[in-house]
Amino acid sequence: MEGTDQHVAIACYYTRYRPKNQSAFHSSPAVFHGPDPLIHVRVARCYRRRSRAGASDHHAALLRHLLVLQAFSTEWHLRQLRLSLPQPRSSRAVAQLRLVDSQLEHLEVESAAWMTDLEWLQLQLPPPLTPIPSPASGSQGAARQCESAPAPVPSAAQQHAAVPPPAPLAAPQQLGLKLTCLALRGCRALRSAALAPLQVLAPTLRVLDLSGAELLNDECAGVLVSLAALQVLNLNYTSVGDPTLEALTYGARALGWARRYGAPAPAGAAAWPELCIHRWHLASTRVTAAGVALLAATRSMSFLDVRGVGVPRAALRPLESRFSLTLVQGAVLACSNGLAAALLNHPTLLACGCSPTDVAALGPRASAASITRARRLEQMQRRGRAGQSDNLADVPSRSHAALFLHFKRPVMITEGKMQYLYDERGRRYLDAFAGIVTVSVGHCHPVVNEAIIRQTQLLQHTTTIYLNHQVAEYAKELADRMPGNLKVVYFVNSGSEANDMALMLARLYTGNWDVVCLRNAYHGMSIGTMGTCGQHTWKQPMPQGFGYHHALNPDPYRGAFGDDGPRYAADVADLISSATPGKVAGFVAETIQGVGGAQPLATGYLPAVYKMVREAGGVCIADEVQTGFGRTGSHYWGFQHQGVLPDIVTMAKGIGNGLPLAAVVTTPEIAAAMAGRLHFNTYGGNPVCSAGGRAVLRVVDQEQRQAHCAQIGAHLLTRLRALAAKHDIIGDVRGSGLMLGVEMVKDRTTKEAAKAETATVMESMKDMGVLMGKGGLHGNVFRIKPPMCFSRQDADFLVDVMDTALARL
Ligand SMILES: Cc1ncc(COP(=O)(O)O)c(C=O)c1O
Repeated sequence: MEGTDQHVAIACYYTRYRPKNQSAFHSSPAVFHGPDPLIHVRVARCYRRRSRAGASDHHAALLRHLLVLQAFSTEWHLRQLRLSLPQPRSSRAVAQLRLVDSQLEHLEVESAAWMTDLEWLQLQLPPPLTPIPSPASGSQGAARQCESAPAPVPSAAQQHAAVPPPAPLAAPQQLGLKLTCLALRGCRALRSAALAPLQVLAPTLRVLDLSGAELLNDECAGVLVSLAALQVLNLNYTSVGDPTLEALTYGARALGWARRYGAPAPAGAAAWPELCIHRWHLASTRVTAAGVALLAATRSMSFLDVRGVGVPRAALRPLESRFSLTLVQGAVLACSNGLAAALLNHPTLLACGCSPTDVAALGPRASAASITRARRLEQMQRRGRAGQSDNLADVPSRSHAALFLHFKRPVMITEGKMQYLYDERGRRYLDAFAGIVTVSVGHCHPVVNEAIIRQTQLLQHTTTIYLNHQVAEYAKELADRMPGNLKVVYFVNSGSEANDMALMLARLYTGNWDVVCLRNAYHGMSIGTMGTCGQHTWKQPMPQGFGYHHALNPDPYRGAFGDDGPRYAADVADLISSATPGKVAGFVAETIQGVGGAQPLATGYLPAVYKMVREAGGVCIADEVQTGFGRTGSHYWGFQHQGVLPDIVTMAKGIGNGLPLAAVVTTPEIAAAMAGRLHFNTYGGNPVCSAGGRAVLRVVDQEQRQAHCAQIGAHLLTRLRALAAKHDIIGDVRGSGLMLGVEMVKDRTTKEAAKAETATVMESMKDMGVLMGKGGLHGNVFRIKPPMCFSRQDADFLVDVMDTALARL
């Protein structure tokens, strides 16, 4: 429990009294000391307690609490209020919080998804705003303007075109509100229409924190620009870009034009003065060098946080000279590259991120005492974490558990949307790992969701003892996407099951037992597939099936023969003649090893090995669990990269976009080998997964995901290679499409794995809002395998963040 006695008193009070009992509330004045208390109401706590007590309507219960709060706020002249709310179920309750005529100056709400419902503002909505001019033209205009090459003096018409005045605003209604600080962190539905009510706060609002707002884009600038009294603006983790900065720095730009060309300012500029925002929080937004230049042109800025934005060093130079890098309070620059490392550790740095306490500390009237208090609060929270915590995200990862967590301070993910994930605090992350290469078309893709929901409402489960059209049609649609005679499909639930079945089919069909697999491979965690894995990490100390022989890994980066596939293949011939009866059941491999660190097999390896294995009586199994469905860009299936045709193909993960779904596809001849006995799998081919799997196939086709992966993957590869040229710790950049690996080494000659550094960079990237994957035998390879809807901007953002994290090492 944080805070002073007052906080404790409030929390206890709320849990002790029934919400209906308003009079009881009023009759406890002794709880508060003085007329101006800072009230931190632990609504989340009350809410949880009430849930446990079995309240039937939680919303209503919480609602009544808040109505009491309103009465309280008027009566006690409440000035500051901080609500930590559970999300998103409580949104309706907050919607009923009435602040009209209250004395409130400072309101903080975390994880709020309620903006559109805010009743007291809705009742007094001003007319809707016209959005500001189109983002595209705006940002280009800005970029041009920021280059300092002299330009010909523009005509008056050109001046107007270059500096389009923002849309006129309706006069804000005067409500007599005194709100100066509003923090609405993690709001989901903040579009410009939802933001419009904020205009009523224009005369007083000085601190606005909209961090993590999902839909906040450049159209919202029309509203923000009306907040003429604004001094602190926090847009961390939103998607606003340069057009917003253009609008908010309009006055500065207009005057810049005037100065530069010795011409009068464009018409209307005088009526639209520069805002006086002096603290800008833009971490992990999409600000470019041009955007920073716009900010530099303002006179009022004294704090800029663009960490994770990837602004080039050169863009920051004007700011450096302006602030002379004297980090006195109120003149702090936290930025995104080498400079950031120095700044972030600077002893006088007041607040470089934007933790909940920062806003309080950053308030325009924040005193030294409040800053100290904020620091003390953070220390207390840190100490509290070392002890017990009821928040899973605060529990450090434990090494004794068989379960593995990726981060020292794990992330708790509660929502996903296409290529983004959200933690329980509403913070957004760019997902570069897609739930371990599983979310193929995007988190909660609407088409897949709809198919699942529709089928769930119709029929969820029967098993294969009855016919169902979903499974039959799905099998046909999948077979249609396979080359050659790969036309028989079995559905199972996981990649391990699929590989188990493939190995069984190979053994039944050939009558042989031995299987050749690769070192560094991963094919699953069942007893059978564990035997095929070629990494100690994934082997329990127990027998793991018999007859698996691990060939040399044809690893072009670390392998003895470089990228010479046929030379590695010779080892397979040796293995078959020395470790088996000369006959094998088969050979299993991925074309790009996934868990092994996005490692493509050496060129020409598979054709040579397939030939040898077939000559030894075996069949060839392609594990397409990670490489299938267009992810590798140039081909729909991974094996096509090496121009081979397998006899059995296994697939899982991306096939279902997160549904427990996997498949084995083979030829009718091989499938017939299993027909002598019955085979059964309770959930395999269930209607809901089949409907979802069909939707995934449709989306991959309709949204042309394969071509998209090729295009974005090529861009990402180029940028990562440029990064490797800058940072020696990057030993290798490889892969294809959106299945890429970045291998980290301490020394490029010895290739000693930089394992600890990889973990550090990964943690730091997570803190800046990018979730990466990690793998390889030594845990030193970044695996970049995002949902296939990953955009070019996402790719740029990832590389910029990685650059920053590497610079901090
Ligand atoms: C290439 C490959 N094959 C098989 C599997 C096993 O899949 P599952 O975890 O669904 O059993 C995995 C899982 O990571 C994999 O990457």
